[in-house]
Amino acid sequence: MATPDLFASSGPSPAARIAELRTELHQHAHRYYVLDEPGIPDAEYDRLFQELQSLEAQHPELQSPDSPTQRVGGKPLDQFASVRHKVPMLSIRTETDTEASGAQNFDNRVRKELGLTESDPPVEYVAELKFDGLAINLRYEKGVLVQAATRGDGETGEDVTQNIRTIQQIPLKIIAPTLGTGVSSLPPEGAELARGGPSRRSPPPVQVPPVLEVRGEVYMRRDDFESLNDRQREKIARGAKGEKTFVNPRNAAAGAVRQLDPAIAAQRPLSFFAYGLGEVTPAEEGGPQFETHHQMLLTLKSWGFPVAALTQTASGASELIAFHLKIGRERDQLPYDIDGVVYKVNSLALQKKMGFVTREPRWAVAHKYPAQEQITTVLAIDVQVGRTGKLTPVAKLAPVFVGGVTVTNATLHNEDEARRKDVRVGDTVIVRRAGDVIPEVVGVLADKRVQDSPQFTMPRQCPVCGSEAVREEGEADYRCTGGLFCGAQRKEAILHYAHRRAVEVEGLGDKLVEQMVDAGVIRTLPDLYKLGLSSLASLERMADKSANNLLDALEKSKVTTLPRFLFGLGIRHVGEATAKELARHFGQLDAIMDASEEHFLEVSDVGPIVAKSIRTFFDQPHNREVVEQLRACGVRWEEGEPAARAPQPFSGKTFVITGTLPTLSRDEAKDRVEAAGGKVAGSVSKKTDYVVAGAEAGSKLTKAQELGVAVIDEAALLALLDKAAAS
Ligand code: IVH
Repeated sequence: MATPDLFASSGPSPAARIAELRTELHQHAHRYYVLDEPGIPDAEYDRLFQELQSLEAQHPELQSPDSPTQRVGGKPLDQFASVRHKVPMLSIRTETDTEASGAQNFDNRVRKELGLTESDPPVEYVAELKFDGLAINLRYEKGVLVQAATRGDGETGEDVTQNIRTIQQIPLKIIAPTLGTGVSSLPPEGAELARGGPSRRSPPPVQVPPVLEVRGEVYMRRDDFESLNDRQREKIARGAKGEKTFVNPRNAAAGAVRQLDPAIAAQRPLSFFAYGLGEVTPAEEGGPQFETHHQMLLTLKSWGFPVAALTQTASGASELIAFHLKIGRERDQLPYDIDGVVYKVNSLALQKKMGFVTREPRWAVAHKYPAQEQITTVLAIDVQVGRTGKLTPVAKLAPVFVGGVTVTNATLHNEDEARRKDVRVGDTVIVRRAGDVIPEVVGVLADKRVQDSPQFTMPRQCPVCGSEAVREEGEADYRCTGGLFCGAQRKEAILHYAHRRAVEVEGLGDKLVEQMVDAGVIRTLPDLYKLGLSSLASLERMADKSANNLLDALEKSKVTTLPRFLFGLGIRHVGEATAKELARHFGQLDAIMDASEEHFLEVSDVGPIVAKSIRTFFDQPHNREVVEQLRACGVRWEEGEPAARAPQPFSGKTFVITGTLPTLSRDEAKDRVEAAGGKVAGSVSKKTDYVVAGAEAGSKLTKAQELGVAVIDEAALLALLDKAAAS
């Protein structure tokens, strides 16, 4: 038996415990989701939640739609039922001037309509954010959420109650407000509610009316949007059918609210901000009597509804302007999208006096910021090459005004991003430019795709110089490997070559390189050595003296070292240390230019990626040409002997080891001989140079003596090795 009768009388009745748990869970959910200050650990919340779930399962007759366990539930719908709004859901006039003066325009209109003159005091406003989501009407009867509806055409919307119930920030049941922060109860019914006097800090509690419609915006936070899209991408990668990513938080939120299957809606993380009222029990029937919009917002907050903390009162145009500017600066850092701010006359009496034009109140205005997203079409997809050889696909767009500027290019970042978004020529796309960020394509409007447009593929050749473009393992970007020749990398290549730790051309810094390349005085590295006084004199701000100094520095730079020269070529992954190692190992540039990847791997510090990079670099005919031209211009260094192939003391000598040596094992002796360049053979012949004989040497020693081959002992071998090491 799960619930022994024995204990039934010792605790609260199931009904009482259920009520207790519901209240407690509502309060904790409010603290967690709305106030953002959890009161208990998650595990404790889960424990209470499970206790409630099991009690409700045991007592189905006590189940109730406002229970916290009922946020997710219900069957998929065929379609949403229509809901006629008791009070129409208005739209809001948009101030077309996106500059601060838009706020001034609104204040001017309000003052004019109210018949105010210059001598009258400033009008009091409430300044709010214009959230980028969708408007919802929440209907509460006796404090319990009974219906949630979209705005629709303002008269009739859709019943989306099931989906809205999944939003944790929306109370399923309104908790009676308490005074201040302490735990207090409502004043006795009929008691006079103190009106906000100057000494009062928090507003008096207001009782929840029998009928209450709360209006506000359902939206998706940016971080929730990102993780939702991450999950969507994973599903798509796993081959799930019918899944897609969302282009922006607004679309994702709208999709979630209008999702027919509430189980799916429950997986889409939504949030809510309250900003107004619909039908409310009138004051004369016991409903609340607010004097200002701000007071109403504070009351909604006290009832557990999220009200944006950035909401504030503002006095006159100057404070509206200040608000507009402040939010404009903070906009990109907000955790959610806004497309503007909203100003509302604070006094409800004045609101009433001003009334409406068609469906827009005269007492409110939306003051927008330049839109950060616009729709346009893709004219072409180009690939740009950066200074360091990085290839970036860029969508060429039909010009569009977004984020305050006209945009004609938007980055697609790299091959994976371009594929993920599947942007194609001719597509209709959403372009976003937020703050100073480079414009980007957010997504494609798939249903507008022109049939048969081919998928974008990254070129395997650099579009600037034709050299091979490679994408290294584990990297997102393709890079041009023609660093020495590529027009896009010209400046970078010259600067790198001239660096103090590379070939070093004193006085050749970025400004001068920029100037010379832009003026067309130099195109590739070897051009540096063809510079004359006359071409330098043609450059702006170049005095004879500095021109001569540069020519001297260039002359001086011709005599360099192999490591400096190698480093100066700017081969990807070949830093100073690797250049030194390569020079030490190969000794000569030609040996490096022709070495195989395997051979590079013999160099300490060189792994497969570096080996491949060096090989690819010298496989580009243009890079080799530049190297040849530099040599032809007189750039030179002292070439060394390849370390691995330097004539070693034992090279060309064949040894045979026989018998037991006093200290070295046979293998040790063999290793040492080979390390010194000698060869160790198994049998004695005329070609044998030395037989190293130990104790109990047999037939091999005899053979050596017969052939007149030199016979030495271990001590003599060690002496030879020592001598070799010293030389
Ligand atoms: S008030 C009386 N306040 O903007 C005016 N609307 O066209 C009723 N919106 O559909 C709306 N933030 O979805 C108001 N702080 C805010 C808002 C806001 C966003 C949306 C709302 C409505 C549209 C108005």
